[in-house]
Amino acid sequence: MAYGAAIPFLTFEDVSYRMNGRLVLQGVSFALEQGETLVLLGRSGSGKTTALRLVNRLLPPASGKIFLEGQDIATLDPIALRRRIGYVIQDVGLLPHWTIAKNVGLVPRLEGWPAAQVEERVNELLRQVDLPPEEYGLRYPHQLSGGQRQRAGVARALANRSKLLLFDEPFGALDPITRHELQRQFLDLRDRLGIASLFVTHDVSEALQLGTRIGLIEDGKLGELMTPDEFLKSEQVEARRFLDTLPVSPRRPE
Ligand SMILES: Nc1ncnc2c1ncn2[C@@H]1O[C@H](COP(=O)(O)OP(=O)(O)OP(=O)(O)O)[C@@H](O)[C@H]1O
Ligand SMILES: [Mg+2]
Repeated sequence: MAYGAAIPFLTFEDVSYRMNGRLVLQGVSFALEQGETLVLLGRSGSGKTTALRLVNRLLPPASGKIFLEGQDIATLDPIALRRRIGYVIQDVGLLPHWTIAKNVGLVPRLEGWPAAQVEERVNELLRQVDLPPEEYGLRYPHQLSGGQRQRAGVARALANRSKLLLFDEPFGALDPITRHELQRQFLDLRDRLGIASLFVTHDVSEALQLGTRIGLIEDGKLGELMTPDEFLKSEQVEARRFLDTLPVSPRRPE
């Protein structure tokens, strides 16, 4: 690690999870630094979502420990822990009977921020994700397109100044151009805000584009983390299988 003395932002130490007697995650260890995006890349059923759910204590590990900023999360109040972490999932999870502004302001309100400060924060976030509050704040989730809802989900995850974001295949269902725009926005927000993220996907091109490091997860086991460059050169069988799914880029005329 480059900074020997610094405590990693998020650490998994030999974490396993068992479901119905079967090991769904097995001996998972990694350390994530501030500002990094660790992409967990794996095929369906490999244990990606389970890993995210362990971080915010929706599931308890069978063995091993998870540390957030040096604190063992098992010793933290789960509700307080979840408020420190933003979670963006594929179907966004916005409450359908609440306006976009009310959804985005949920956690700051729970934290007891004064109303004016919540409103100011919500407006700032909606602008950051390209949903001008004057136009979108008072709409309901069903009055937005899928990509706009996804952006509202990201705004909500950022609302309480979370320093850790968990993404579970958030852009999978979008058309390729919208997906690309959201990926660019994600990179921009990450670089501006220095947020650490754990990003789950089965899309290798997304992993290469967004990950500062990539971890292949196969049958509940996490391989060595690789930079995108290392991943591209990897000879590992599962890495090659993923790389083989990449289309050959169509050539532009010279
Ligand atoms: N509630 C449950 N009861 C029993 N087994 C479960 C449960 N939830 C998940 N599993 C199993 O645990 C394994 C890992 O599931 P997980 O949801 O973590 O996979 P994933 O990598 O997120 O897959 P996907 O890409 O399809 O979302 C799978 O084999 C799944 O069938
Ligand atoms: Mg999943």
